Amino acid sequence: MENNYTVLITGANRGLGLEAVKQYSEAGWQVIATCRAPDSAIELNQLAKASQSVSVYQLDMNDLKSMTLLAQQLDQQAVDLLWCNAGVYGPKGVGLGEITADVWMDTLKVNTVAPLLLVQQFLPHIRRSQQKTIALMTSKMGSMGDNTSGGSYIYRSSKAGLNAVGKSLAEDLHSESIKVVLLHPGWVKTDMGGPSGLIDVTTSIKGLRQVVELLTLENSGSFYAYDGQEIPW
Ligand SMILES: NC(=O)c1ccc[n+]([C@@H]2O[C@H](COP(=O)([O-])OP(=O)(O)OC[C@H]3O[C@@H](n4cnc5c(N)ncnc54)[C@H](OP(=O)(O)O)[C@@H]3O)[C@@H](O)[C@H]2O)c1
Repeated sequence: MENNYTVLITGANRGLGLEAVKQYSEAGWQVIATCRAPDSAIELNQLAKASQSVSVYQLDMNDLKSMTLLAQQLDQQAVDLLWCNAGVYGPKGVGLGEITADVWMDTLKVNTVAPLLLVQQFLPHIRRSQQKTIALMTSKMGSMGDNTSGGSYIYRSSKAGLNAVGKSLAEDLHSESIKVVLLHPGWVKTDMGGPSGLIDVTTSIKGLRQVVELLTLENSGSFYAYDGQEIPW
């Protein structure tokens, strides 16, 4: 089942990122699994020990230097699929009247700004690959069309901003045959999704992998859920 493709995944130590590492390595991909604290990424290190296709690297999405260092470390390597998965919800239960700029900025930095900075660092690696794909893990909560319940100002705005980033990337990179997709994983049982989530990580990542596989230059820049449904902006 081995192939010549390489995927780079951020936030690969737990939740959806860890499951993506498992599934892509089982599917024969080379997996560059990144996380901010490799020494304490127990499950991820076990996966890397058991499979030669998984390698673990340090990457903090809050730290431009760590992005630059990783891009240099992997210089000359091709990255077929750059999967920006890492994200934070931000403070929970903070409603209108209680929001401060500092906590908002922290969330925007990881969810909105960092994915674009990472793409900038890895464009040379993507350009030299075969699949030339960028997947951005966003959320239905970033959709205006889907927002009928209000609230969640910080998380919603961070993912709406990421959607705008993804759409512009798709337009700008079309002529280079680089595809971009915005992904909603569903409401998933993870630390972020909580135990009431509607689906498990296996179902979510299986569906998302299929969405990515079916992506073409024609639908590049679209926003899809894990079950293939297109989501309104
Ligand atoms: N679960 C859901 O229902 C759901 C729904 C919609 C969208 N999403 C999106 O899906 C993605 C994955 O979510 P999840 O449910 O797997 O969340 P999770 O279980 O909370 O995991 C989040 C991952 O992001 C990493 N991360 C956070 N800040 C980081 C930083 N500064 N640098 C590097 N890594 C960082 C975490 O690493 P540490 O362990 O170091 O903190 C962890 O690996 C997120 O973008 C999330 O917004 C999830």
